[in-house]
Amino acid sequence: MKKFSKVAALAAFLSAGVSAGALHAQTAEVLHWWTSGSEQAALAEVRKVFEASGGEWVDTPIAGGGNARAAAVNRMLGGDPAAVFQFSIGQQLRELADQGLLANVDKIASEEHWDDKLPPLIVKAAKYDGDYIAAPINIHGENWMFYNKAALEKAGVDVPKSWDDFVAAAKKLKDAGVTPIGLGGQPWQERIMFNSVLLGVAGREFYAKLYSTLDDDLLDSDTMRKVFETFAALKPFVDEGSPGRNWNEATNMVIKGDAAFQFMGDWAKGEIIAAGIEPGTTVGCSFAPAIDTAYIMTVDAFAFSAMDGEEATPAQIKMAHVMLEPDVQIAFNKKKGSIPARLDVPADSFDICAQTAIKTLQDKKTHLVSTGLFGVPSAVSGAIDDSISNFWNSTDMSPAEGQAQFHQAISNAK
Ligand code: BGC
Repeated sequence: MKKFSKVAALAAFLSAGVSAGALHAQTAEVLHWWTSGSEQAALAEVRKVFEASGGEWVDTPIAGGGNARAAAVNRMLGGDPAAVFQFSIGQQLRELADQGLLANVDKIASEEHWDDKLPPLIVKAAKYDGDYIAAPINIHGENWMFYNKAALEKAGVDVPKSWDDFVAAAKKLKDAGVTPIGLGGQPWQERIMFNSVLLGVAGREFYAKLYSTLDDDLLDSDTMRKVFETFAALKPFVDEGSPGRNWNEATNMVIKGDAAFQFMGDWAKGEIIAAGIEPGTTVGCSFAPAIDTAYIMTVDAFAFSAMDGEEATPAQIKMAHVMLEPDVQIAFNKKKGSIPARLDVPADSFDICAQTAIKTLQDKKTHLVSTGLFGVPSAVSGAIDDSISNFWNSTDMSPAEGQAQFHQAISNAK
């Protein structure tokens, strides 16, 4: 890998006529999975500022979060790491730090007082052994429900406040010829919908306890049975094209009115904005039906591969600095659909759904973490996604069997 980068730097030196050392120092390969229109537009805001401050950005987009993360890790293990790679903060990123694969950016973070600018939950999850191992750029919420207002009107239904209401509305939508749920049938998207049902039926305390303890009694409980029954009741409301569909195609169905609802993180809102729609107008947003208010957070960040040791390289440090710039956090998040990770940037220019997110998060009791990358170890996260997907896609598994299978999968993985 070293040989390769030396040759590449020399080639660039010869063509650009600048010092190879200086060029290498400012060049960062950025590996990420932001390939949809809104994701690319948002990331371009970071790139613009990085380049304007003398950085050279080598873009490595890889479609699909799972694929991109696997590629980032494999390249680190193979000795050819991308300097900067997209990840989310939390347990799984710390697993990479455990293996000694990451550089830390603690020096710039303490110079720039990140501890005072980021919410405590993010500070904690972005650190390993007291050092920052990633630059957090946003807060996404996963328990959103986006809906096409004209489709709801066509079927004469209101925005549902409970899952029973939802099922009643979905029947009417189906009768009116509208696909009730635009679902991207991939395990992680099915899990996002499942976790919204879990939160909605069982409440925020149950959700937090379940995933922080993975307790057998909770997994076995009647409450959990009700969650599986409710989730199963949604099966008739997706269309035949669902299996394998990408999340942004499902969002597009809602934008066009081909589907009424999508249960998805607010990156879907990024696509709505990219389609020229002001969120809350023709496409509305609210939290998925629930018995109390909560926000299932996932925090996008960029982490730094250990290149020559634990210390970050100048290009990595530059990137960390740029990611936390107030103007970058504003420009990026307005396109991405998320809200800034920094608490001190003015958010009054953000859309109505973002305002709801910001207001909700003021109450700490609403703070929940995603089982994607944030809140559980990777083995448990994989077991959750797989067992939910198995249940969702099975034609003959009962809710009781689905629950038992979920319990077993988690017990095996923890
Ligand atoms: C990320 C989002 C991204 C979405 C779909 C999630 O894991 O947190 O930023 O838009 O995947 O690509």
